[in-house]
Amino acid sequence: MHDLFAILSDGEFHSGEEIGRRLGITRAAVWKQIQRLREESGQEVESQRGKGYRLPNAVEMLDPDYLGKELAGVLPLHVLQTIDSTNEEAKRLLRKTGKPCLVVAEQQTSGRGRRGRHWHSPYAANLYFSLVWPVVAGMRQLEGLSLAVGLSVQGTLTRLGLTDSGVKWPNDVLVQDRKISGILLEVVGDPTDRSHVVIGVGINVNMVAEQLAIKQSWTSLALELGRTLSRNTLLVELICDLSDALQVQLADGFPAIREAWQAASLWQGRKVVLQAGENRIEGTVVGVTDTAELALDDGTGKITCYAGGELTLRLRDDS
Ligand code: BTN
Repeated sequence: MHDLFAILSDGEFHSGEEIGRRLGITRAAVWKQIQRLREESGQEVESQRGKGYRLPNAVEMLDPDYLGKELAGVLPLHVLQTIDSTNEEAKRLLRKTGKPCLVVAEQQTSGRGRRGRHWHSPYAANLYFSLVWPVVAGMRQLEGLSLAVGLSVQGTLTRLGLTDSGVKWPNDVLVQDRKISGILLEVVGDPTDRSHVVIGVGINVNMVAEQLAIKQSWTSLALELGRTLSRNTLLVELICDLSDALQVQLADGFPAIREAWQAASLWQGRKVVLQAGENRIEGTVVGVTDTAELALDDGTGKITCYAGGELTLRLRDDS
């Protein structure tokens, strides 16, 4: 599928004959591969008698050479086509090598979100990547790490011109109430001893298809900015900012960025409902603590702090 997609990625018409010649297959086999591409990638492929096939728009593929050059010295890089989940692949690589790395893929077939949700990962549309990072300072390094990652992503997207974005506790990045990025952290090993954290980040970059049945309301950079973006240059920006943020987190911990996080928090001072398992807790967001817990005022001035995990946060209708 990748070779066919690479031929079509310029957005120009390519005849069945030309594609067949370049791939070394018959025209009938080209037709079958086009059908498969449509099904597996979710990409629309136009076909016109006498002209051939084309994508509605040119699509820039992930470029291993460019990425390898720009990110040389940051982390060993794995650029993949289709994978179940970059977090899963990162864990497999960690088991094999024991070393930090960065895994990025064109498509995930089982992209995972928090609380067992699915993360939509259509081919060549968005960014899906996982970073394996060593945990050398125990729980102190992990406290607030997911908030630090969210703030780094939000900062990079803002510098690109995205306005109205912010963070939602613990680690979503939203544009108003529409999700543009999600983060999934998984600790591998014992954090009090030797461990690593797998930092999985999904960013909706060029996804525009309204037909994608994502229940939660979502948006993408392309929808917000009105233009498609280079995923290659965006990934380099994100990784450079993220590796700086991870160094700060290691050296100074979450307190160093707590105020910046609160300034970017969309729901600071808003009335919310926190769903903690069966419990529904109402309150007003006061902020986050130095250990990245969410502080809620129950309306009487009594402030209670909640840790991450299985909590969800929704705005109350009347706020
Ligand atoms: C969420 O908001 O629920 C978290 C979504 C995390 C998605 C990313 S995409 C790259 C990495 N691989 C996965 O399977 N999930 C994360």
